[in-house]
Amino acid sequence: MLYSKRTKSPGLLLQSKCLFLFVIMVSCTPPEEPVKCSSKDSNCTISNSYGSFPDRKICRAGNVAYPTTENELVSIVSAAAEAKRKMKVVTRFSHSIPKLVCPDGEDGLLISTKYLNHTLKIDAAAMTMTVESGVTLRQLINDAAKAGLALPYAPYWWGLTIGGLLGTGAHGSSLWGKGSSVHDYVVEMRIVSPAGAKEGYAKVRVLHERDKDLEAAKVSLGVLGVISQVTFKLQPLFKRSISYVTQDDADLGDEAITFGKQHEFADIIWYPSQRKAVYRIDDRVSSNASGNGLYDFTPFRSTLSLALAFIRTTEETQESLRDADGKCLGAKLVVSTLQTAAYGLTNNGIIFTGYPVIGFHNRLQSSGTCLDSPEDSLITACPWDPRIKGEFFHQTAFSVGLSVVKSFIQDVQKLVALEPKALCGLELYSGILMRYVKASSAYLGKQEDAIDFDITYYRSKDPMAPRLYQDIIEEIEQIALFKYGALPHWGKNRNLAFDGVIERYKNAGKFLKVKNMYDPSGLFSSEWTDQILGLRNGVTTLKEGCALEGSCICSHDIHCAPSKGYLCRPGKTFQNAKVCARVSSS
Ligand SMILES: Cc1cc2nc3c(=O)[nH]c(=O)nc-3n(C[C@H](O)[C@H](O)[C@H](O)COP(=O)(O)OP(=O)(O)OC[C@H]3O[C@@H](n4cnc5c(N)ncnc54)[C@H](O)[C@@H]3O)c2cc1C
Ligand SMILES: *[C@@H]1O[C@H](CO)[C@@H](O)[C@H](O)[C@H]1NC(C)=O
Ligand SMILES: *[C@@H]1O[C@H](CO)[C@@H](O)[C@H](O)[C@H]1NC(C)=O
Ligand SMILES: *[C@@H]1O[C@H](CO)[C@@H](O)[C@H](O)[C@H]1NC(C)=O
Repeated sequence: MLYSKRTKSPGLLLQSKCLFLFVIMVSCTPPEEPVKCSSKDSNCTISNSYGSFPDRKICRAGNVAYPTTENELVSIVSAAAEAKRKMKVVTRFSHSIPKLVCPDGEDGLLISTKYLNHTLKIDAAAMTMTVESGVTLRQLINDAAKAGLALPYAPYWWGLTIGGLLGTGAHGSSLWGKGSSVHDYVVEMRIVSPAGAKEGYAKVRVLHERDKDLEAAKVSLGVLGVISQVTFKLQPLFKRSISYVTQDDADLGDEAITFGKQHEFADIIWYPSQRKAVYRIDDRVSSNASGNGLYDFTPFRSTLSLALAFIRTTEETQESLRDADGKCLGAKLVVSTLQTAAYGLTNNGIIFTGYPVIGFHNRLQSSGTCLDSPEDSLITACPWDPRIKGEFFHQTAFSVGLSVVKSFIQDVQKLVALEPKALCGLELYSGILMRYVKASSAYLGKQEDAIDFDITYYRSKDPMAPRLYQDIIEEIEQIALFKYGALPHWGKNRNLAFDGVIERYKNAGKFLKVKNMYDPSGLFSSEWTDQILGLRNGVTTLKEGCALEGSCICSHDIHCAPSKGYLCRPGKTFQNAKVCARVSSS
């Protein structure tokens, strides 16, 4: 309307188009804000960065507050606690898959850490750094590097906030030192929790290394209150040398265990249907070793929306035609393209000329350039941006103890031998990423040294649509969780993965004691956090089609998709598994 009047003059048309583009550019920044409110900061809905929770429910909140200092944070928590309101912390991007961020009901309060994004102090001599909890991993890495310091291990995606990644126990890959979980490098934390009237309904607790409560606060699922500030113990900045070596996966079960001990930053990308394993040989080197390598992981780059739509349409077609060969062919292409592109590594920030890639740790440890796609018109975006037709997936991520990981790998290999094309679908999503994690003293941290497996795969926009070979992926999920007692990543996974999980944490009782002390009325808890903490039933819900999205494990055919030929059956190798298998002669 606005510009139809101007179409008479070509000059003006051009101008108004520019204006139009300009307006879009300033009015939406990529990615989208997870909180949307119908009137200023109130009557809000909240989502994650994928635009969908595992059960696809829409979460609501009465309003959102944006503290800019710890003092403001204290008064916000105090007012809400006095009014006995439910609260949840929301971050700038909200990258967790499960419904951790949702307050119960419709009138809860969201407290955003968007403006709690400052680096407060760097003590180069003590090698410590204090940040506000909304600081992103990227900021932390950059600011530390400017002071000649480094967080030795971190997630590979830098869009996470410190509060969020600690809250869910996020990690990189290492069996060395204290291991790869970021929370194991925390030496001090300030956390704002509800309090009684005498204390003004909110108080700041300062936790030092010697305080046992810190073991609860390090990985808290957000239920203890709002983490305001965190101090990390860092190391002097160093250089690394990275080479990828591709091998046959026949001996992966043995190799996986020794490999992690041999190389400080080891990880493995496993392509089970192609029977290949890509070993990342990655170690510290002397800082006079030459090289200025850079990691800009290809799948985390801004991608053309048109290309993403094409890929998604292809995948949807393959699903509807049950074209396993098409997926396997596609997987080969994806894998060889990634290999040729050295997974986004370059030797000098511009081109890849060969391994090893040597460079400073801060330029190699993490990436995520799609976060600053300049194209606000959505010509390019992060591949999973819900505003475009792009990736839409499930992510199953769990750690399997080193003592049983060989058997687990062999179980997966047995399934591949029975159904060779079954796992091509997940190879389209960069295969199974295997990373090393160490036992942690955090109450909700890893219980033993383990390998974390990240599996990403197609999710239909239609919750009632079964997936190609979904029985095999479900069987793998159940083998890991129930045969080997794997621990699901708190910030990923479908709901079923959390069923009974709290029983696998030997210090769960201590965690709950701290929770009762910090927030006795459970203002920071929700139905979902109560369920995963074992305080309430209902992690899984039985209803028609529930197993298709992992809201349950099937026990009757109706939980699958009987009209489409998918019935509830035992696993092929693990009899205790119950999976939705395609049982049809056509
Ligand atoms: C592309 C991508 C790559 C990833 N890579 C990795 C990886 O390499 N390794 C890995 O381990 N994980 C990885 N993850 C998962 C990620 O670690 C978790 O999803 C992480 O929790 C998200 O952090 P966030 O800042 O988005 O927090 P959110 O998802 O917004 O929040 C997580 C929880 O923490 C709570 N919370 C947040 N801030 C605070 C605070 N200040 N005080 C109290 N509670 C708070 C929230 O209420 C919520 O309960 C990846 C995710 C994505 C999308
Ligand atoms: C809240 O927002 C919803 C849409 O998200 C709208 O239907 C409803 O009327 C709004 N309520 C109030 C009180 O503004
Ligand atoms: C903090 O976040 C705000 C809002 O996203 C941004 O404008 C500001 O530049 C950020 N500050 C720092 C120090 O990054
Ligand atoms: C790097 O520095 C060390 C001393 O820190 C020295 O022994 C070594 O020879 C140097 N290497 C190169 C390649 O310059």
